[in-house]
Amino acid sequence: MLNFNFYNPTRILFGKDMLNNIDQLIPADANVLITYGGESAKKYGTLEKVKTALGNRRIHYFGGIEPNPHYETLLKAVEAVRHNRIDFLLAIGGGSVIDGTKFIALAASYEGEPLDLLHYGFTPIGPDTIKTAIPLGTVLTLPATGSEMNCGGVISYGQGKYPVFSELVFPRFSVLDPNLTFTLPKIQVANGVIDAFVHTTEQYLTYPVDGRIQDRISEGILQTLIEIGENTIAEPENYDARANLVWSATLALNGLICAGVPQDWATHMIGHELTSLYGIDHGQTLAILLPSLLEIRREQKHAKLLQYAERVWNITEGSEAVRINSAIQKTREFFESLGVKTRLSDYNISKDQLLVIIKQLKAHGMTALSETQDLSLDVSRKILENAL
Ligand code: NZQ
Ligand code: ZN
Repeated sequence: MLNFNFYNPTRILFGKDMLNNIDQLIPADANVLITYGGESAKKYGTLEKVKTALGNRRIHYFGGIEPNPHYETLLKAVEAVRHNRIDFLLAIGGGSVIDGTKFIALAASYEGEPLDLLHYGFTPIGPDTIKTAIPLGTVLTLPATGSEMNCGGVISYGQGKYPVFSELVFPRFSVLDPNLTFTLPKIQVANGVIDAFVHTTEQYLTYPVDGRIQDRISEGILQTLIEIGENTIAEPENYDARANLVWSATLALNGLICAGVPQDWATHMIGHELTSLYGIDHGQTLAILLPSLLEIRREQKHAKLLQYAERVWNITEGSEAVRINSAIQKTREFFESLGVKTRLSDYNISKDQLLVIIKQLKAHGMTALSETQDLSLDVSRKILENAL
């Protein structure tokens, strides 16, 4: 097992009506800005429930944070925070609203040019750059990204998606009430299952370091997602199925399963370019790229792919090559069973567009990806060609 330094201070309030407990977690004299997305928080009553739970506190609102939150939109919220002297942010939504709120929390306390905050990539923004951020809490309405219990966010600017990390923006608390997710369209639930699945494979399907606990937790998350995936889409109000999706998605990216093991993230980095260039949903980009990446990287990932085949898919018969093929095929079939297509051509992307994607990867410095940093632009091109 590799050395690690694990820290996660986020309190989780899980289950029906746990929203009512936020009253005890936000100072009584707080001046709160509630952030939300397009219309779902209002339309389905979550905004109203949050308002009630906040009692007599002073409340301001900032709506309109779009999927793949835009830098320009978030700067407007920063202005509102400064103008109204906000001292607590409460995000209602999925990854986009929560990520956007983390950026607002940082940018509102930063005296320099906010654009600087986008250029750290995977390097956490340290105390030399920024010492405080506005405290924030979240009410999760879409299980997928894990943003509710981590300190990262992804912000869209120009034609790129920029990861931002800072320990200052771990949510103080997150409310995970599966009931608040029942109104999700089927495609968003499918995207969420796939996002949680691929977060897990990014941290599990690398090379062995004898991280037995990490491996078994990862395998547990993957098996749970396979068990409940179709069910939670077909029966949105099945509380137990949805509760298991919500907790799987949170655990898949709260720092627990990556502690002490190598991490890949190439599927995500290539996927971000597909979202910024063609507007394909984050979860869908992962469904397109993961099966193809596993085919191209089967040698580098050989040992873990065999373990994945056996422990996640119960494939024990046949040569090693046959078992690995079968596990990759099962992964693709699983994504398709959720109603998500797994080929670039399904999204009207053809071979002549691949050069543009490669150029974007180069422009964003994505030239040495993966757990071994040997996934060059040439390998990315092969993965994309194989995904056509
Ligand atoms: O805008 P509204 O009207 O609220 O509608 C949203 C949005 O259109 C809708 N929605 C959310 N909750 C709902 C609902 N509709 C009905 N009922 C509800 N209860 O869902 C749509 C998509 O929301 P979004 O937040 O964009 O989805 P998701 O949670 O998948 O987040 C995706 C974003 O997270 C980033 C992605 O890059 C992308 O920008 N990621 C963040 C990560 C992190 N912070 O750790 C890691 C991930 O890998 C990912 O990159
Ligand atoms: Zn993701």
